[in-house]
Amino acid sequence: MERVMKLAVFVGVIVVAVVSAVVLSHRLPEPRTIHRSDATPPSKAIERGRLVYGQYGCASCHGDDGKGGFANPNSETDEKVPAVVFVQEGYTKPELRDYLLKGNQKVGKERADGPAPPYCMPGGSGLGMSRNAASDLGEYLWSLYPEEEKKKKKQEKWQ
Ligand code: HEC
Repeated sequence: MERVMKLAVFVGVIVVAVVSAVVLSHRLPEPRTIHRSDATPPSKAIERGRLVYGQYGCASCHGDDGKGGFANPNSETDEKVPAVVFVQEGYTKPELRDYLLKGNQKVGKERADGPAPPYCMPGGSGLGMSRNAASDLGEYLWSLYPEEEKKKKKQEKWQ
């Protein structure tokens, strides 16, 4: 009788072990918390463009943040070096790339009889910038567009 009991316990232990192994291996994965932020991470092109911006010294005229504002006496852009954060408003992406390659060596004057403004916009081509680098640079400038402006535009659209 004792042997039968022992056998029963033994079989019982094996059954429990097998059943739990099966259950464990089929268990659904733990639900994971997905952290989502509203800000989309910068694309590779934007990251490369940021480096191009540094490499070509754009900040020396347009500032680290691209907001411009350095004096450029008698230039038609409010006598200042313009900001580069609003390019979405004035260019398509291909136009922007071409502009960055070409630049503008003849900056318009505020007063026609006044002196030529001291700073012009150097073209990337003349400095060895490739088309790819120029389009990455364009992506970077595109990404600088201030969020508030986007919100304002949306509101205006629905008014
Ligand atoms: C020597 C100073 C100088 C440097 C360096 C310079 N810029 Fe400019 N940039 C200017 C000036 C001045 C203008 C205004 C040109 C005009 O009035 O047509 C301008 C215009 C621009 C514009 C047009 C803005 C608009 O609203 O139409 C963009 C975009 C721009 N620059 C980007 C860049 C980038 C990117 C670099 C670096 C590769 C760079 N600039 C380097 C002086 C500079």
